Amino acid sequence: MTDASSADTPPSSFYDEVGGHDTFVRLVDVFYRGVADDELLRPMYPEEDLGPAAERLTLFLEQYWGGPTTYSQQRGHPRLRLRHQPFHVDPAARDRWLAHMRTAVDELGLSPLHEATLWDYLERAAHAMVNTFEPAGIGPTPPAASAHLPLHPETD
Ligand code: HEM
Repeated sequence: MTDASSADTPPSSFYDEVGGHDTFVRLVDVFYRGVADDELLRPMYPEEDLGPAAERLTLFLEQYWGGPTTYSQQRGHPRLRLRHQPFHVDPAARDRWLAHMRTAVDELGLSPLHEATLWDYLERAAHAMVNTFEPAGIGPTPPAASAHLPLHPETD
């Protein structure tokens, strides 16, 4: 016979299972502490204060894992690859990003299954965010400067 109480209860989300808001705040806090001291990543973040960037990442991850949908209410569709386009996300940046995330995930002390699930996602997402294999340069190329570069220096 079906247990009426469990039939009435919606399945719990990953967000709830790992501890909800507090867990995501801790994850992102530790991650951004690493970013703040990272000489490759820190200059990529446009704002003086990393607080607003931390807030955006927290809201995004909470939404992704079944928590509140505040991210989309505030920012619209995530379109993460598009939003990362202005930044020089090469394999080196990805690996630094993942190293800080690894430290942050480890500090959460999740169950092995939750940890593996979260880490698998973060690794795949970080690989998907790479938008250049050019090693040099950080941040957007100023449009005014690039507009004056000839496309074909040999023939122009
Ligand atoms: C692979 C290396 C990555 C680098 C170097 C990187 C760098 C950045 C930078 C510089 C920003 C702008 C800061 C801001 O104003 O919010 C940003 C924003 C953001 N990143 Fe990343 N990121 C990476 C990967 C990821 C991944 C894997 C995710 C998701 C799992 C992610 C989620 C976000 C979100 C949600 C925002 C804010 C988007 C918005 O609403 O404007 N990033 N990232």
